[in-house]
Amino acid sequence: MHELTTRFASRASRRGVLKGGAALGVGAVGLGRLGSRLAAAQAEDSLEIFSWWTSPGESKALQALFDAFTAANPGVEVVNSTVTGGAGVNAKAVLQTRLQGGQPPDSWQTHIGRELIDLYVVPGSCEPITDIYESEGWADVMPAGLIEQASWESEQYSIPVGVHRGNGFWYNKTVMADNGIEIGDTMSVEEFFAAADILKAAGIPALGFSNNEGFQGPQTFENTLLGVAGPESYNALFLGETPWDDQGAREAAETFARMLDYVNEDFSALTWSDGIALVIEGKAGFNSMGDWAYGEVLAKDAQDNIGWVSHPGSTGSFVLVVDSFTLPVGAPHPENARNWLITLGSKEAQEAFNPLKGSIPARTDANRDLFTPYHQWSMDSFSNDALVPSAAHSQASSPAFQQAFYDATTAFVTDKDVDTYLAMLADAAAMDAEAAE
Ligand code: GAL
Repeated sequence: MHELTTRFASRASRRGVLKGGAALGVGAVGLGRLGSRLAAAQAEDSLEIFSWWTSPGESKALQALFDAFTAANPGVEVVNSTVTGGAGVNAKAVLQTRLQGGQPPDSWQTHIGRELIDLYVVPGSCEPITDIYESEGWADVMPAGLIEQASWESEQYSIPVGVHRGNGFWYNKTVMADNGIEIGDTMSVEEFFAAADILKAAGIPALGFSNNEGFQGPQTFENTLLGVAGPESYNALFLGETPWDDQGAREAAETFARMLDYVNEDFSALTWSDGIALVIEGKAGFNSMGDWAYGEVLAKDAQDNIGWVSHPGSTGSFVLVVDSFTLPVGAPHPENARNWLITLGSKEAQEAFNPLKGSIPARTDANRDLFTPYHQWSMDSFSNDALVPSAAHSQASSPAFQQAFYDATTAFVTDKDVDTYLAMLADAAAMDAEAAE
């Protein structure tokens, strides 16, 4: 993983960053509606934490982090600033406006990799936290490849709190049993289509799909690309080393188009948590989603009826979606912010947060017994499988590429035009390559 992440990280560029900022619609979101929150956050001894964790599973897990912080720092008021929208589709734009207005929160959520580096570190919005890494001994308890993606020019800039597996494929056990479908430990692409035909004949959408936020289509495509073309091709495509007219990319787009023949019609109106709810409620067979979906399953106490495999064909690979938190330049409460990061890196906080969130700890010394069978399965996958960064969650690709990827996929999920889709991805890659020069 180390060599791979270095390859991804070294592609960050200042010009790419500027394009990324524009792609996020910077300046389009006013600060007005944030006024009251900002006033509260500026209170004397407080800590304002900015994230997009608002779903039942996400907010429960976030509260566990607040509780861990408060236990170590009694008397500090925690201000929970959230902006709804999976994958941070709205939060990241609001945050850019605040940063450009010189009004950062005390810490914000970001993915390690290109999102952290391109959007926040290179533009100068983050303080290095290398000294905290040293004093807390984090290098001894976290995989070097994760730390590498939280680093820029030999300094560390964020602390990973949990590692999500992006290529989960969740299913409703009752729906499968009622339709005579047996699911093993893995699922091939053709096994999925065989099950999908049975469900279609029974009038059930095989793939519970949502694309309201616009990240679910890209996520389902990257999972399909991994399943069809494998981790080497996946990396080479997102690194710009293989052009998008590649045969593996074409087969993946064709497979994705075929999968879209088995989805619920109202997907454009549904959020990611609505998508997993379709499976929880037995209204769809499967849902392709990162394991924050398992946080929803747990929050709704549905774990007995929900099974999982890797997205069809992607057994043996793990799509990394790693959440972390930063120390801003000009944090209103820098000492509280540093203490927040110390809490997040602790064994106790990671053991409290991740069982609720669906992710596994970034620390390797967490007590495995505290975790569900799903988490233990994911821990084993993390240890043994090919680790590839998510492009849908901006870990593998620049913010500008990510936006183009979202736009292209939003068109594709309705028109299913493979040639146009691949051409749009090729254009985005070319734009990225130009920005990196
Ligand atoms: C991801 C994030 C997860 C989860 C998900 C849906 O980008 O890493 O923690 O929040 O979005 O909102």
